[in-house]
Amino acid sequence: MPVAALEKDVAEILIDEATLQAKVAELGAAISADYVDRQVTLVSVLKGALPFMADLMRSITLPLRIDLMEVSSYGGATETSGQVRILKDLSSSIEGKHVLIVEDIIDTGLTLNYLSEYLRGKDPASLRICALLDKPARRLVEIDIAYRGFLIPDRFVIGYGLDYDEIYRNLPYIGVLRPEVYGGE
Ligand code: IMP
Ligand code: MG
Repeated sequence: MPVAALEKDVAEILIDEATLQAKVAELGAAISADYVDRQVTLVSVLKGALPFMADLMRSITLPLRIDLMEVSSYGGATETSGQVRILKDLSSSIEGKHVLIVEDIIDTGLTLNYLSEYLRGKDPASLRICALLDKPARRLVEIDIAYRGFLIPDRFVIGYGLDYDEIYRNLPYIGVLRPEVYGGE
């Protein structure tokens, strides 16, 4: 198996590939219905949301634009600090546009809270959030998630874009990382 070297670090598969793909199709259908009269701009957050964005955009049946940002939060490998640094900004103006942020996971909410405020400051016509994974256990700020894929427990997950120390993003499913890998219990 091509990913065997990665799979030894996976404690369990939380969301398998077929379940992920079915959910992405469902989200795409909901977005397609809601934005039928408005042209949506998907703004994805690199690098974690890349596979989700690629699948989601192909499940939306409307004309759309995409843009990409990259942010990094200061902090340890498995925790965010709340201080966000913009590594790559939008390529085009979103003023007057209907913007949908496409994010992989919301944990404390600090990253998306910062990003929403930042994008709101650019005067979009509307701004909503689509998040594949919602991990509410450690939420520090309230985030209004218009489109949510899955509610997940407070475990550190990898795969389908999500990394630990920049690895595991290419796993086709969402798995739980063995705590031994990051020095946990
Ligand atoms: P927040 O600012 O705490 O909501 O964290 C959001 C970011 O932290 C995500 O975009 C991920 O990059 C990262 N993150 C949070 N939880 C996990 C996880 O379980 N696995 C991998 N990355 C995570
Ligand atoms: Mg991310």
